[in-house]
Amino acid sequence: MQIKKFGVIGSGQMGNGIAQVAAASGLEVLMSDIAEEFTAKGIANIEKNLSRSVDKGRIGADEKEAILSRISTTTQLADMASVDFVVEAAVEREDLKFGIFRELDEVCPEHVILSTNTSSIPIGRIASQTKRPEKVIGMHFMNPVPVMKLVEVIKGLATSAETFDVTWNLCEKFGKTPAEANDFPGFIANRILLPMINEAVFCLYQNVGKPEDIDTVMRLGMNHPMGPLALADLIGLDTCLAIMETLYDGFKDSKYRPCPLLRKYVEAGWLGRKTGRGFYDYS
Ligand code: CAA
Repeated sequence: MQIKKFGVIGSGQMGNGIAQVAAASGLEVLMSDIAEEFTAKGIANIEKNLSRSVDKGRIGADEKEAILSRISTTTQLADMASVDFVVEAAVEREDLKFGIFRELDEVCPEHVILSTNTSSIPIGRIASQTKRPEKVIGMHFMNPVPVMKLVEVIKGLATSAETFDVTWNLCEKFGKTPAEANDFPGFIANRILLPMINEAVFCLYQNVGKPEDIDTVMRLGMNHPMGPLALADLIGLDTCLAIMETLYDGFKDSKYRPCPLLRKYVEAGWLGRKTGRGFYDYS
């Protein structure tokens, strides 16, 4: 299957990163969001990342312009009728993703693969919203997308071998290393990562240590590039909570109980870097 035009739903931190790597690999990209202010913010972030690459001598100024020229934006999901492959990277809310997949299924030609960057919602549940479950797959990028090498490729019960191969090859075209996972809550990455982050929040909640100390222990004691609380702020505390809820609901096991402090921060609108306040203050 020849993929020339790649569609990205959502222009937030994951969506614009995915659009950047797809365009850098030579594909035409159509990035959508619900309002122009969001797509403009996404483009501005891509431009900032590419400028840094130019400054560092990794790409030339002409290459930067070529990558940017391959990315167009829209606020109409119906425009996805023109793409050959879609990745959905909207907010981590099941009802929202269900609606997007129902609409994509209506507007996209039959051969188009509909992938999702969901961090934990079961692929089978998303696929069941469409009439093409064999063409629905998880394509889970890591944050920050331009830097992180991994993409988790998640097969739903009905995902076809062809859909899997096309998606796997696309990851490689993007310069990423894919890893295969089956459809269980949290897949592999977040099944392992989020309980660790949640436990770090419990350490803070129970005053085992201050944020700086918790993070220093994991950075210097375990050689993690950043501590779990700083990483939670990068991922977004709302996303962290949503993933813990999915694990808790999916396995009905108390070991996945979201820490009450995580919920409290989310309720207060302290969502991490994107709102300027999380476990750390970014203002
Ligand atoms: N966007 C683009 N580039 C970024 C970036 C961002 N948000 N943040 C950092 N970078 C770039 C920097 O510009 C820098 O590039 P240069 O080589 O051009 O200098 C490079 O990454 C290294 O950055 P820094 O020198 O500033 O800092 P660092 O060495 O500490 O690296 C980091 C930053 C890559 C984020 C590193 O700390 C790291 O790997 N952290 C862990 C990230 C991680 O675990 N991600 C997975 C999260 S889980 C997930 O995404 C799944 C999910 O569903 C929740």
